Formats: sequence, C-alpha cells, structure tokens
Amino acid sequence: MALDLADIQGNLLRGYRSANARHFALAVTEPNGGAEFIAGLVSGDEQRSPQITTAEEWEDKPHYTLNLGVTWTGLQALGVPAAVLADFPTAFQQGPAFRAQAPDPDYRDGVGLGDVGESAPSQWILGGEGTPAVHMLLSLYTDEHRVRRVDEISARLREIFAACDLTEISAHDANALPQGRVHFGYRDGIAQPRIAGAPSPSRPDMQPEADVGDFLLGRDYVNTYGGNFLGSVPPELGDNATYAAFRILRQDVHGFEAFLRDRGDLWQLDPELLAAKLLGRWRNGVPLTLSPDTATPDPAITKHRLNEFDYAPGVGHTTFYDDAEGRRCPIGSHIRRLNPRGALVMGKPHSRRLVRRGMPYGPPLAPGAPDDGVERGLMGLFVCGDLELQYEFILRVWANEDIATHGLRGTRDPLIGAQPSSGGHFVVRTDDSRDPIVLTGLPRLIQTRGSVYCLIPGIGGLRHLASLGNGGG
Ligand code: HEM
Repeated sequence: MALDLADIQGNLLRGYRSANARHFALAVTEPNGGAEFIAGLVSGDEQRSPQITTAEEWEDKPHYTLNLGVTWTGLQALGVPAAVLADFPTAFQQGPAFRAQAPDPDYRDGVGLGDVGESAPSQWILGGEGTPAVHMLLSLYTDEHRVRRVDEISARLREIFAACDLTEISAHDANALPQGRVHFGYRDGIAQPRIAGAPSPSRPDMQPEADVGDFLLGRDYVNTYGGNFLGSVPPELGDNATYAAFRILRQDVHGFEAFLRDRGDLWQLDPELLAAKLLGRWRNGVPLTLSPDTATPDPAITKHRLNEFDYAPGVGHTTFYDDAEGRRCPIGSHIRRLNPRGALVMGKPHSRRLVRRGMPYGPPLAPGAPDDGVERGLMGLFVCGDLELQYEFILRVWANEDIATHGLRGTRDPLIGAQPSSGGHFVVRTDDSRDPIVLTGLPRLIQTRGSVYCLIPGIGGLRHLASLGNGGG
C-alpha cells in the first residue's frame, strides 16, 4: 500500500541523522492560542512559522527538521471533546508517571516500567508528579556543524510561543557524539524496523518487514494482530498518526566502566568482550552473532551489514547459526532481550518493534576519568502504534521482569533494567570450564529523569486540531 508521505510526520519513517536536537515542552494556556500555533506549523508559510517536517523524500537535507507531539492532556487543553478523549488507549490517557507505578513493591507482579527509587516520577524533571503538565513536545533537529540554526530558530519559535500564549515549561538539548556513539561507548542507530510501504533503509536485514499498522494509525492499516490501532479515534484526528514515548535517561558511565573492569579482572574476561556481551554488539556496532570473538571481523561484515543477522535459522536463512543457548550473543543482552528477532519468545515473534529516535546529551566522560558528577545520558522518542503492546511491554516485561524465557529467569536488562538493590546478575556462556559465568552485583546503570507520552498526529490530524480553535485559517 502506498503511504501518503506528505501526511505523515517525518520522524517516524526517517532517521534524520541530525547532530543536534532541542525538545521544547510546552503548555497551552488557552485553546485558540494552541490552535493558532499548530495552524502556523502546517500553514506552508515559512514567514509565519517554521514548518513541520513530513516523511516526503528530500534531495537536499533541510537546515532544520521539526516535529510535534501532543499529550492526552494537551488534546484536552486544545479542546478535543471528552467523548473523543475517552476513545484513546488507556496508557496514552494515563501517561508514563502514572503507568510507572509498581503494582507490587516486592516486584512479584512486575515493576511497572522500572521507574522506582531514584527513577520514580516524584524525582523527574519532566512529566513527573511535581512538574507542570506537558501539553505539547516540539522537537527541533539541526546540524550545527553544518549550519548554525538552533539559536535563531529557537528565538523565532519563542516569539511564536509568546504570541500564542504558550508556556515553555522547559527545553532539553541533545547532541550527537562522534561516530553515532552513545555514552557507554557503543555505536547506536543501527537496528530500526523496516516498515512495509515506507521508504526503506538500504541496509540488509534478516527480519521481516513490520506491518504498517504496527506503527501508523489509520482505517486501512492492518497491524500484526490483524486489527488496527486506530480503534475508535476519529480518522480526522488519528489517520497517519503514531504514538511516542519521550524519555530522558541519565547514564552512569563511571559505574558502567568500573563494572566492566572489576568483573573482567575477576573472571579473566576482556572488558571489551564483557561490554559486547551486555549489549549484544561490540562497541563498534559489530553484532556478536556474526563475530563472537573479535570486534574487527571478517572484512565481509561491512558497516552496511551490521543488521544482517538473527539468533536462529529462519525464512530466507535456513542454515543460519542457531544461538539457542546464547553462546555467541547472551539471551539476556540488551538487544536480544528487547528484540529477540527469530529466537523463541513468548507470544508472537517480531510483534513488538520500536522505532528509536534517541540522541545523547551531556559531555562525554573521557575513558578512565574519575566520576565528574556531570549529568549525561540519552533522550529521545520511542515510536510505535500502541504504547502498551509495544513500548510498555518491552520495558515492563522484556527489560524488567525475570521472564520465563529460557536463560532469563531472575535477570533484568543489564543496561536499562531496574536491578534489585542487592544488584542484578547476568549470565555469560563460555566454552570452557568457567561455563556459565554468572556476573553478580550489576548496578542500576540508568536513571529515568522524565517522560511524556505523545500522539504524533498526521498533518491532517494537526490541521484538525488547529480547526478546533479559531486559528485554522
Ligand atoms: C540510556 C539508555 C539506553 C542505551 C545506552 C541504549 C543503547 C542501545 C544500543 C547501543 C543499541 C544497539 C544499536 C542498534 O542496534 O541500533 C540499542 C538497541 C536497542 N535498544 Fe537501547 N538503549 C537504551 C535504552 C533503551 C530503551 C529504554 C529501550 C526500550 C524502551 C531500548 C530499546 C532498544 C531496542 C528495541 C534496540 C534494537 C534491538 C534490535 O533491533 O536488535 N533501548 N540500544
């Protein structure tokens, strides 16, 4: 099915690969102002306002890209009628601070979304219990090394916020690190779902295309379960929309490196191999499944082929290595837990995919440097058609529950899991007398600093929201 790229916001279907991002958290103070603001963003008139970027292909990369998400309380503030508001999925209505609550403090029934202790919503700087309600999240992406635009566009946007009676609650900056690395030193941004009908990245991938209905709301879009995620949301608002969880995650780089060194010494393991085992890829992005022993593999595994692998044989790759025991790539590693690919998994394989649009924030910590106490981490959008079935399931169950999947009992995601206070554990399989090595005392390496859930409406949906006030013209 041909997608109407001009009606879809660009950050779902394309990775802008920008170097800089600024996310503005905004509150609407009166509906007409909010409507006028949105009308300007989709007016096609650059003089009036910077414009929302769509998924249409470009020949030359623009000097900025811009996308808007609206929270459920934002839809309310913009004047969406109560009956329509009630049609949205419960997770989106409730938002991440509410959803984070642990159903059972003993973690017997799960850990909410892992946002407990220091990561609890009471501590958040955005979207938390003590912070103002966010209505809209406006994400501006630039390439400051190419053309310095962020200050100029921010100044322009701030004039418009003032003219439209919007309150800027906060702005959150992220800046890419060299070679697409994140603060633990790994290369990121390699694996993304290929969405049926969408312009596809050329990188080979052994996974099937994701159904368009897993990412886009719309009457005609079928999801992997055979239904569609539009539900009863009116098409004029929901068509070509998607959902996103914005999340700010502080990373304990010093704690991470110390863990690698200490456990490496203890078990006579190269800290680089240990880092690869925790993620499932070497820090340069080479997957363990393709290159279990070295980060500088066979030259045939080019940068282009870093996503061409599976954990088991499958359709189109029937003789592929079967890593059922996790000897190459641990079953508990970050990328294998959060996308088991063709490996055995509870439920339906390939059904819980996420588009990740994250970028590091804060300055890098030099290798071997002492802890400087400076905040650094990762922030961005996790995009999917259903927050509960995709994003929340991945975080709640695959990252944070000691699920019954073979090899995972009693463990949580080593990078992002809410480890028990006594420390988590992680299993590394070896082919020698040490097998299996059980690494204990794994600290919690990530602290949640804030989160909001957004609807990312299609362009028609934004025009519909603009028409609710008198700023639609
Ligand atoms: C600071 C926190 C995080 C760090 C440092 C991190 C780091 C990484 C890295 C380096 C990769 C491998 C690069 C790639 O395959 O493209 C990756 C993949 C991935 N991450 Fe994370 N991540 C973080 C948080 C999260 C969270 C919160 C989620 C889910 C809610 C998540 C879901 C995924 C998924 C689904 C993949 C792709 C797996 C695949 O398809 O093979 N990550 N992450």
